[in-house]
Amino acid sequence: MNPTYDAIVLGAGAAGLFCAATAGQRGKRVLLLDHADRPGKKILISGGGRCNFTNLHTAPDRYLSKNVHFAKSALSRYTAADFLALVESHGIAWHEKTLGQLFCDDSAKQIVEMLLDECAKGGVELQCGEAIRDVAHGDGQFRVTYGETEATAPALVIATGGPSIPKMGATGFAYDLARQFGLKVVQPRPALVPLTLPGEEALFRDLSGVSTEIIARIGGKEKGKAAFREAALFTHRGLSGPAILQISSYWQRGDTVTTQFLPDRVEGWLKEAKRDRPRTTMRKVLSEALPDRLAEVLCERLGVSGDLGNLSDKALAAAEAKLARWPFVPDGSEGFAKAEVTAGGIDTAGLSSKTMEARAAPGIYVIGEAVDVTGWLGGYNFQWAWASARAAGLAL
Ligand code: FDA
Repeated sequence: MNPTYDAIVLGAGAAGLFCAATAGQRGKRVLLLDHADRPGKKILISGGGRCNFTNLHTAPDRYLSKNVHFAKSALSRYTAADFLALVESHGIAWHEKTLGQLFCDDSAKQIVEMLLDECAKGGVELQCGEAIRDVAHGDGQFRVTYGETEATAPALVIATGGPSIPKMGATGFAYDLARQFGLKVVQPRPALVPLTLPGEEALFRDLSGVSTEIIARIGGKEKGKAAFREAALFTHRGLSGPAILQISSYWQRGDTVTTQFLPDRVEGWLKEAKRDRPRTTMRKVLSEALPDRLAEVLCERLGVSGDLGNLSDKALAAAEAKLARWPFVPDGSEGFAKAEVTAGGIDTAGLSSKTMEARAAPGIYVIGEAVDVTGWLGGYNFQWAWASARAAGLAL
């Protein structure tokens, strides 16, 4: 049996489902294929099961890419408000949690059901649970073999995501296809991922489970722009929590991550505390604002003890400065096994930002996480999936 379609979409995740629905509703005959036993698995586990499906503050500067301008076109033509309107049209209740992050009130399942419903409206044919055995091109047609079937179409959409969380069925298949069809790949790396600390920092690893608000930055002049004020969490392997996951996307081996403890304190606060309460210890002052165990480790690392009144102003200023730019030099990350997304991916230089079509291989479209566009934590990655899927879905 050799069924023919107008387009074959590989990968029934966020981007593939939305692209297939968009094209299907324009009257295109679409086949949507996934090797997993069900569609949208990452959507189901996203946002702690409630799917942080978009972010009200979506803007191109919240995405990493070799070409920071690439995402502008698609993001401006399909916005957070557009996706929210779709969510509301399906009667899905939602709320803003923090920082513009929108979540379902009930369950991420509702987003998958909504996308499947949209696919059904477009007459999309969905096939799950069969490995894709071969993809070939000739005579203006793509031939995709899965199971015993060979399907053909003049357009092929690569929506198989990146290799983060392989145990959920994530693969680097998109990159294999890219190379097969002459598209370049920007070195993929784990992003939104916990960072690990070396043995010398064992004291901090002992704080596993302790969390506090910080501002995280990458040390070094040229790298210091991105700054995230959110919670950091100490783990038995190193550092995690939203602030660290955010900065991890910018981190490269050898970089220092600086964390600003007590971000609301103004310069001179320790001197002031000394003046007001000279009999108070540094440990006590820190534990008033930080978890006690963390205060203890920081004091030990600062090498300051005893009453504030017995410490010189210079020593207090040095302690303040260190607390405001505490350097951690991670020795790695927890890798693709724990990375929420993959940074890098199919090089945008070879793609049209309007349609997501590959210049070197007309008829091939690349969308979602497979592309070298990676969003911040907080709904930005799904918004990219929707926007890039929409751009391709309208062009197929
Ligand atoms: P996605 O990975 O969703 O889909 C790819 C599909 O291709 C999968 O269905 C997979 O089975 C299939 N596939 C892969 N290889 C294949 C092959 N060889 N053959 C056939 N099919 C293949 N983002 C966000 O904005 N808000 C959030 O709340 C979260 N939360 C979150 C939690 C966790 C735990 C993770 C791991 C990730 C998130 N994310 C997120 C990120 C978000 O899930 C991600 O950016 C999108 O799912 C990317 O959508 P894609 O459709 O591009 O890939």
